[in-house]
Formats: sequence, C-alpha cells, structure tokens
Amino acid sequence: MATDKSISDLIADYQHGYSLKQDFYKNPQIYDKEMKNIFLHHWLLAGHVSQIPNPGDFFLFEFDKESIIITRSKQGKIKAHLNVCRHRGSHVCLKKSGNAKAFTCPYHAWSYDLDGKLIAARIMDSDFDKSENGLHQAHVELVGGLIFISLAQNPPSLRGMQEDLTDVFDQFGFDKMKLVKQNTYPVQSNWKLAVENYQECYHCAPSHIDYAKIHALALTPQKFNPFKETYLKETTSNVRTKPSSYYFDLAKEGDEGYQYERNPLLKGMKSGSLGGKPVAPLLGKINHFSEGASEFSVGPVTFFLIYDDHMVGYRFLPTSIDTCVADVFWFVREDAVEGKDYDLETLIWLWHVTILDDEKIIVDNRKGVDSRFYSPGKFSKMEDMEQHFVNWYINALKK
Ligand code: FES
Ligand SMILES: [Fe+2]
Repeated sequence: MATDKSISDLIADYQHGYSLKQDFYKNPQIYDKEMKNIFLHHWLLAGHVSQIPNPGDFFLFEFDKESIIITRSKQGKIKAHLNVCRHRGSHVCLKKSGNAKAFTCPYHAWSYDLDGKLIAARIMDSDFDKSENGLHQAHVELVGGLIFISLAQNPPSLRGMQEDLTDVFDQFGFDKMKLVKQNTYPVQSNWKLAVENYQECYHCAPSHIDYAKIHALALTPQKFNPFKETYLKETTSNVRTKPSSYYFDLAKEGDEGYQYERNPLLKGMKSGSLGGKPVAPLLGKINHFSEGASEFSVGPVTFFLIYDDHMVGYRFLPTSIDTCVADVFWFVREDAVEGKDYDLETLIWLWHVTILDDEKIIVDNRKGVDSRFYSPGKFSKMEDMEQHFVNWYINALKK
C-alpha cells in the first residue's frame, strides 16, 4: 500500500528478498528521480547502424518527454541530437525516420546541419552567435553496430565491457549484423514491472508454453542446474561460455553494468523458433549449432538473447509513470537475404508471441500492484536476477 513516507525513507526501508512497495510504481517524485538517476544517466540502446546507412539518414529515439535525433553525418559518423530547438524549444524533426540534408525547425525555420550546428536563423540581430546555438548533443557509443546513447554529462564507462567481451562480439559478428525488424509493444504498466518480468524465468513455465519447449531456463532449478553444468562441460560451441557477471549491483563505480552468460537450450533445439529449428544463416564466426544461446545485457533496460543464427534485442522504456513500451529487435547476419536465407515471419514468431504473453502478465501484475491491498511479496530463488535488479535500482535512487 502507498505510504506518505519520504523518498529517502522508502529507499532506506527496502526489504531485501521482497518486491518493491507500491510507492515505487506510483509516486511521481520517485519517477522524477528515476528519470534523472537512471534514464538521463545510463546507456540506452537507440538502434542500429543498419537503420541509417547513408549520410543524412535519421530516426527518432524517444522515451518519456525526450526525443533524440539519431543521424549519420556527412562524414559518416553517428550523431545524437536533442530534438529541441535552441530558439523557443519546438521539436525540430517531426518525422520518425527519413533522410535529410539539414533539420529545419517547423516553427520559425532555424536550420541545423547533420552535425547539429545552427546554420541559418532568420532575421536575428547581427551579434547573434549561431555557433553557440547548436542542438544539444547526447553521447554516442557503438557496440559493434549497436548504437547506444547517454544523456549524462559524464556517462558511465563502457570501456571495461568492450574490452572484456571483445572475443564474444567477434565470434557473433556484432559489427556484421543487420536489423531486420523492430516491433514496439505498448504496455500499460510502470517500466519496472516490465524489466522485472524480463529478469526472471519463474514465470516462464506457466506463462510461456512455446518458450518453455525450447529454453532450458524454464526448468526448475533442480533440473536446470545439473543440465546447465553438463551443457557447459560438453558444449562444442565456439563462443565463450564463461559468464561476465558485473551486472546491476555488481558494476564497479563509474562503470556501466553489463552481463554475459551462456545457457543451454533443450536437447535438439537449435534456435529460438517454432520447434527450435534454424531460422537464418549462422552468425559471425559461429561454425555450427550448439544447442545453446547467450544472454547479453548493457545498462538497466537493454537485453539481448543471441542464438547461433540470430539475435533478439529487448529494450524497455517509460512513456509515463504508468506506461512503457517494450521494443523488440531482430538481427541476422548482414549478408543474409530475406526470402532466401530467412523468412521474416518465421524469424520473429517466438519472441512476438512471447512478448504478447508478457504484455498480458505485466498488465495483470500492474492491476494487482495498483490495489490498496498490495504489499511486497517474497522472491523465489528463481528470481535472483530480479533481486539483483532491485538492489541496483535502490542504489541508483540513492545517488
Ligand atoms: S522554435 Fe524553432 S525556430 Fe523557433
Ligand atoms: Fe516472459
């Protein structure tokens, strides 16, 4: 039940081993703090370089009240400009994606080049300095072809992650993939209920019939742990099996949290698809199907599941305190040809149906959390990653 406690009391009162109090989902001051400490600070997946192959190509990356223009400059560099006119603040770019030579504000026609520099401002005094009125910039980092942005002045470092996982990115060919589909699923719940749901597979067996036929993670710990141990001992996969478990509460001060882990699929399952059948050519330097998949995550709201033949990305973003979106991205190797090497409907099937199931359980969860009778409940041991997320979240709010 909601209380009238201060934010710092609520944070201090968090009881380890339990879900969050209702205030964390409903209190607008907590939401403001989340914006500042989490979404305006940490690295967020904006998209992929294959969405903007040519100079002037752009798309908008948006969450809550923010809109960011992701574009490719004349020199081919990926840039991220805040979509807020330096005159009186109008959104400058109104199209969701396209190609532009410059971004001209629809209000009074100030015009910005692809680097965000102000290049034209009508009828201004002669002492007006255009060079001081460029669009605000977000930091951009590429992880292979994945575009991450941070709105912080001094973002957490991604260097440790980039160095630690060089071999993983190389084996899966992170810089040789293309994005072939992005679906946006609106969810009528606070963003944390969506992230928390993604963090645990306690719900997988009862809620995801199709997923549970493919992924060993849906098994009980008594069955999963020995199954995984045997898999890791016997796997012939040529990608790293050693986990990197920096994630969430374990990241070093100043570093972005990340995680890499390899998990088994059930016997005979090769990919995340109907019947576990292959759905695309093998990624990067993967040389055979090894009945496993890798989990990789960066920052608090971006997760990847890397099968031997395709990668699926998940990103959860708040659109308001009570609503969020789950974006799902499907990647294949860049030289794969649709219709010949992969069929799009077949490729996206598993995670499309799974996220629709998730959307339903998250909203049902939200309805109960909204109740005057909700109180924090005890986590199962299958919710250990969710506990890591909650620990990290509580710490992030303290800053
Ligand atoms: S608000 Fe953009 S030109 Fe005036
Ligand atoms: Fe799920």
